[in-house]
Amino acid sequence: MTDELNWGDGDYEPTARTLEPVAEVVLDAAEVVPGERVLDVACGTGNAALAAAQRGARAVGVDQAETLVGIARDRATASGAEVRFIVGDALDLLVADASFDAVVSVFGVIFAPDADRAAAELRRATRPGGRMVLTSWVPSGPISAVGRALFGALSSPPAALPRWGDPEWARELLTRHGAATVDVVEHTLPSRAASPEAWFADQEVNHPVWRWVRRQMTAERWVELRKESVAVLSEANEDPRAFRTTSRYLVMTARLA
Ligand SMILES: C[S@@+](CC[C@H](N)C(=O)[O-])C[C@H]1O[C@@H](n2cnc3c(N)ncnc32)[C@H](O)[C@@H]1O
Repeated sequence: MTDELNWGDGDYEPTARTLEPVAEVVLDAAEVVPGERVLDVACGTGNAALAAAQRGARAVGVDQAETLVGIARDRATASGAEVRFIVGDALDLLVADASFDAVVSVFGVIFAPDADRAAAELRRATRPGGRMVLTSWVPSGPISAVGRALFGALSSPPAALPRWGDPEWARELLTRHGAATVDVVEHTLPSRAASPEAWFADQEVNHPVWRWVRRQMTAERWVELRKESVAVLSEANEDPRAFRTTSRYLVMTARLA
């Protein structure tokens, strides 16, 4: 039986909360104004869609993880925001052609296996002259190194993810899918915990990706990987009294002709 990665497994909400500032950066880049139609693709618990609604936009969110869409709907109800959340695939968006002024994705479509099809769908949903704004991690720094080590330890590692963290690759892809201009700006996001050990312990208990990798390992192999990972995190620790590391990410803003 294959063990599929399910982003609704564990408790993704704490991670999503750390990404809230990125949703604001993305909406700034998309220059969202009140009344505009905004689509948040791979919305998770709804950060960017809810923030867009806060700015007066008419927002829709779509994600394939039913559990996360449920959390997003609860958050909308709790805040009184009128946001429609749909369970669905970024590779086959259940929205009409050219129906959004801005289509955004915060560390979302980068996980879809077929980047060409994902980009084609983003473009299809965006009106002529509209904006597509995406973020991707830059493959550098200790968290990225730990992620690569964990994936590399799998007996059948997943196919390499599309190269969204490479600005030239992303620019070429988005241009091929209708972008008249593509601006790429690098930003940083800190991660904090009481210690490197505490950061890793939180991931292995709560984060769906870490949990998914762990399930495919023997207990002994996992203990080794934990030790190696904590060593990498400790080596790069920016805060001698706790744990802090800074991850780099790209904000890619594509404008359609
Ligand atoms: C790192 S999370 C980001 C979630 C959210 N954008 C945020 O800022 O917290 C990645 C999200 O992509 C979603 N995802 C991955 N592949 C997808 C696909 N093909 N279609 C729809 N959602 C997808 C996952 O379910 C997960 O919610």
